[in-house]
Amino acid sequence: MECNRLQTGSTSRRTLLKTIAASGAAPWFAGTAFSTPQALRVPAGPDDEQAWSQLRGQFLIAPGDVYFNNASLGTPPAPVVEAVAAGYRALAANVTAAKAEFFAALENRVRPAVARLLGADPGEITLTRGASEGLYFIANGMELQRGDEIVTTTHEHPGGLTPWLVRAEKSGIVVRQVPIPSPIANYREPLELLGSALGPRTRVLSFCHVTRGGLMYPVKELCALARSKGILSAVDGAQAVGALEVDVHALGCDFYATSLHKWTLAPAGNGALYVRAGVRPQFRSLFKTADADPAAAGHYDMLGTYPFPVRAATAAALAFIENAGGVRAIERRDRMLSDYLKQQVLASPKLRLISSRDASVSSPSITLLDCPGRKSVDVERVLLDRHRLHVDDHVRDGLDALRISTHFYNSKTEIDRLIAALNG
Ligand SMILES: Cc1ncc(COP(=O)(O)O)c(C=O)c1O
Repeated sequence: MECNRLQTGSTSRRTLLKTIAASGAAPWFAGTAFSTPQALRVPAGPDDEQAWSQLRGQFLIAPGDVYFNNASLGTPPAPVVEAVAAGYRALAANVTAAKAEFFAALENRVRPAVARLLGADPGEITLTRGASEGLYFIANGMELQRGDEIVTTTHEHPGGLTPWLVRAEKSGIVVRQVPIPSPIANYREPLELLGSALGPRTRVLSFCHVTRGGLMYPVKELCALARSKGILSAVDGAQAVGALEVDVHALGCDFYATSLHKWTLAPAGNGALYVRAGVRPQFRSLFKTADADPAAAGHYDMLGTYPFPVRAATAAALAFIENAGGVRAIERRDRMLSDYLKQQVLASPKLRLISSRDASVSSPSITLLDCPGRKSVDVERVLLDRHRLHVDDHVRDGLDALRISTHFYNSKTEIDRLIAALNG
């Protein structure tokens, strides 16, 4: 059975479901991916430690370790890991039935659930391997002429910048990186700096929703500004989705690429790309011919075989997020934890807080700090080797900082342990 044929409409979907029924295989998703292993109580609020620690009990983080590096890669909870394992078992036992079941689950469950997460329509969602892949699709699918200009920032992750540089090398477009300070002084600063960089040859404004250093950009205003000048907006949401509520229709962006294996806690190798329905005529698929059936061309998934159980287990991650009260509740919990961390850093004479305390320009989940007189890579090593605390260094944008990611499964007690280690 061809992968792409399965995405073409209800007839093939019905055939698939018949195939599954005929195979007699117990649906993989009924038992694992869409249910929670035990009745976990939804937390009543950001401080409901009992409920949050019950959720924490579902994680497989090595005993004694504290994971503060979710911005790099999320740690999937047990039901997600189990969904992957069960998926590969189902695939090994009955390839024919399992493949059909996975295709049906991806179309009927996963894509609609990811669309809900992003505030999009399912036909606007392409399932990818991560934000980098989505960003590559954007840069290479756009209709651009030699001399056309892309305006972006100095804060981009290589996953967001390199695809444009590759396109520049191949087709002679110009990439302008506008320097933006870190931290951002206020909400209007990126708007003014990027706004004044837009010119007559600018075709795309490309920037992060939240940068890897935890800076939050005024996405809605930037997208509106671009639209008012006939410029397309492309947003890198790798550090936003799952940590804060995202509604791409409300944001008004044309493209939005994200990873789902960071804050959404899907297994490594999952992401999504939103392409606004109205922008399709200006966008070419890398995998389908331009004359492909437009009804079937709503999304731009890569063709070929991929790790079905890994992709399908995104459903288990989304079910887990729902069990934690949904993204809005997680954002409040994350913000409470990062506010607490910031207070502790400010109270220490040995530490310096870099991140802003202003919620309109800072991520709820990423905090930068430095230890004056010490290199962050050295501190990072000591924290891991002596204290089993996983953090990341952030040596860029003129900073030599430590990046502490706090997600809902962390606690104030863990933050106290970090502060004690940094002060020691
Ligand atoms: C802002 C930003 N964009 C893109 C990426 C790349 O994400 P991935 O490796 O999941 O493709 C990252 C990863 O840390 C990131 O922080």
